[in-house]
Amino acid sequence: MHKKKTYTALESKKNEVSNALKKSIRNLDSYTHVRGESLYVDDVNIRQGTFHAVVFNSPKAHGKIKHIDYSKAEALEGVERIFTYKDIPGENQIGGIIADEPLFAEDEVHFWGMPIALIVAESEFIARKARQLIDIEIEDLPVITTAKDAKEKGSFINAPRSFSLGDTEKAFEECDYVFEGETFSNGQEHLYIEAQGAYAEPLENGNIKITSSTQGPTAVQATAARVLGVAMHKIEIDVTRLGGGFGGKEDQATPYAVMTALATYHLNQSVKLILNRHDDLRMTGKRHPYESSYKIGLSKDLKILAYQAEFLQNSGAAADLSPAIAERTLFHATNSYFIPNVSTTVLSCKTNLPPNTAFRGFGGPQGMFVIESAIAKAASEIGVSPREIQEANLLEENDEFYYGQIAKQVEAKNAWHSAKTLFNIEALEKEVEDFNLKNKNFKKGLALMPITFGISFTNTPMNHARALVHIYLDGSVGISTAAVEMGQGVNTKIMQVAAHVFSIPIEKIKIESTNTTRVANTSPSAASATADLNGKATLKACKALLERLKKVASEELNAPEKDIHLKDEFVYVNDKKSTLNWTELISKTMLKRVALTENAHYATPEIHFDKTKEKGHPFAYHVYGTAIVTTTVDCTRGTYEFDSVKIIHDYGKSMSEGIDLGQVEGGLVQGIGWMTLEEIAYNEDGRLLSNALSTYKVPDVFSVPKSIEAIPLETQGHEQAILKSKAVGEPPLMYGIGAYFALQNAIKAFNPNYKLEFHAPMTAEKVLMALYQNP
Ligand code: MTE
Ligand code: HPA
Ligand code: MOS
Repeated sequence: MHKKKTYTALESKKNEVSNALKKSIRNLDSYTHVRGESLYVDDVNIRQGTFHAVVFNSPKAHGKIKHIDYSKAEALEGVERIFTYKDIPGENQIGGIIADEPLFAEDEVHFWGMPIALIVAESEFIARKARQLIDIEIEDLPVITTAKDAKEKGSFINAPRSFSLGDTEKAFEECDYVFEGETFSNGQEHLYIEAQGAYAEPLENGNIKITSSTQGPTAVQATAARVLGVAMHKIEIDVTRLGGGFGGKEDQATPYAVMTALATYHLNQSVKLILNRHDDLRMTGKRHPYESSYKIGLSKDLKILAYQAEFLQNSGAAADLSPAIAERTLFHATNSYFIPNVSTTVLSCKTNLPPNTAFRGFGGPQGMFVIESAIAKAASEIGVSPREIQEANLLEENDEFYYGQIAKQVEAKNAWHSAKTLFNIEALEKEVEDFNLKNKNFKKGLALMPITFGISFTNTPMNHARALVHIYLDGSVGISTAAVEMGQGVNTKIMQVAAHVFSIPIEKIKIESTNTTRVANTSPSAASATADLNGKATLKACKALLERLKKVASEELNAPEKDIHLKDEFVYVNDKKSTLNWTELISKTMLKRVALTENAHYATPEIHFDKTKEKGHPFAYHVYGTAIVTTTVDCTRGTYEFDSVKIIHDYGKSMSEGIDLGQVEGGLVQGIGWMTLEEIAYNEDGRLLSNALSTYKVPDVFSVPKSIEAIPLETQGHEQAILKSKAVGEPPLMYGIGAYFALQNAIKAFNPNYKLEFHAPMTAEKVLMALYQNP
């Protein structure tokens, strides 16, 4: 398989940057990854006598617990104890946004896989065996699995949210075209390679340390304290790295960590709990399925004058992060388009599925799929290419996002037109047309997918981070922040920041584990903002240290401070290299009793949002881009391949091109998986049918696009992005939405009678049915 990676657009700029910001930098974790030496929770050295735990969880999606008999399980040799809600000294409550989720079920179960008890034994094997010996009697209650059903029954998590701009009702009357329709996008399994898990150990005086595979160490700490009824300072959380999170560990790592803490609290012994894949798939929440309806109105010249949408979010059995995710659906409902009249509503529907949760894009992709569907529908009805509608409505500088933020440094049109020119859209289209004329049983389809994604936690108070930087006596540096490394390369980026400020080699810098004792009260590593927030805090701390070092150097060298700077491990005076090097400077600073440690706090400036008006300036900035997706469908089988995905992406001034390209490729493929392959299925009793990797298909080496190109847009970057290098974690996932529409276009080329349906994922089965669908 050949993959072309081109960076021509930035080639000329390579020499401008310092050594630390070399474009070619790799994710520094890759060294231990490929040697199998990277440490995960399961690799922690456990102390002698450690117990192993397994979660006993509900075999029904909804019901009253009539009776549970643990006696046979408890009698099994090697079983230490079984913990239930009755053993909770504090509150049986883990809900973060809304207090609606118990750690362990009490009288009722609300989803298949809901935790009921923790079995603690000498080995995991014994605990699993004991689990099979538990007798439970549940009286069935009605099960809701779809959002629509929940809406009909009035089953909601909270009150609906609505955003609006202009007057949609009036605007629809003035439209030349008005179309309505419905869409569905399914959930998505995170499939982090490292399953949920934690290891708790007792320290002295009832203190507990938890090693957790979490994106949100503070959430784990606060929830453990709440459940145990102890002060937060008694609980220490430590995270080295995650074997992937993708949002699935923003909130849902918490219960498992808390369970280990609960057992440790009672037993005064270490307890380890790692879900096996089967348990993880069944018990944890996923991306939210959405059932949505839209109404779109256009003028003759294809301007979208009005857009209305109602989003039914399948939230699952408890709130988890659903309200925040619902909010981001509204923020991204108009994707890259300026529409003067918009009204949207989202309902978080309470069902009997595991509470659905954060997943790369955080509700944004679900909103964007609906507007792209509405555009595809309108184009098909009017008889134009969707591209014409997309292009006619792209955001421009100073347009107002419908939530009130004025668009600045907008790159929507730049990315779109760069993609069209650089990749020669006419030639690509001609290739598709020619191919389709010549081939009867294979058809190609092409689609463009523009993206606009807001960077910042939509909940303004969460946009802060801290960094604790030590320079040690020998000139080596240790950095602690709130950032959790989960494969996205944030540790490398933070090292680059420090190496850049001090002008020392990356090898002199170490990123410490993420630990609540060193950096407290943190927001989770999420919202693509981890490098911005923690990088900026690191930048601030390093700059403060640099000022101190410069003062010492100025005294040593008898030169004014303003003339001093550090370069390549030496002190320079007015660009003249002195004999004072980095290590000596550090020891002089120490001898002068000047602090070599700094703790900095960063909070994103300027952002705000007023929830009473649903207006404000919630995002530090936006990330833009455009993808061109081409597919070939085998019209005998319904199977398909993606020939190429060509992307123009707004990285700002990327500080780590290798890492950022990895994020674009990974995000894209995850998005394509969501839109085409990955099919979560629950039966009507609420049992997960796609409960193993034999029944849940994710993209593999055979199904990834044959070629991915991701060329940087040349832009100035943004002041609020770390060293002007824009956030890149989530936005590329949404390029994958283009895959759905490329497939539709290929189907249309084969079957002109195909009536567009917007029901993702577009699996091979669905393609096959569409190919032979009659009107
Ligand atoms: N990349 C890898 N390899 N592993 C992950 O778990 N998570 C994604 C994205 N990229 C993830 C990833 C998600 S959901 C987010 S929010 C961002 O990374 C978080 O990291 P960042 O804020 O540093 O971009
Ligand atoms: N994005 C991701 N995670 C979050 C957010 C957000 O906007 N808000 C709360 N958690
Ligand atoms: Mo990402 S869904 O914000 O963890």
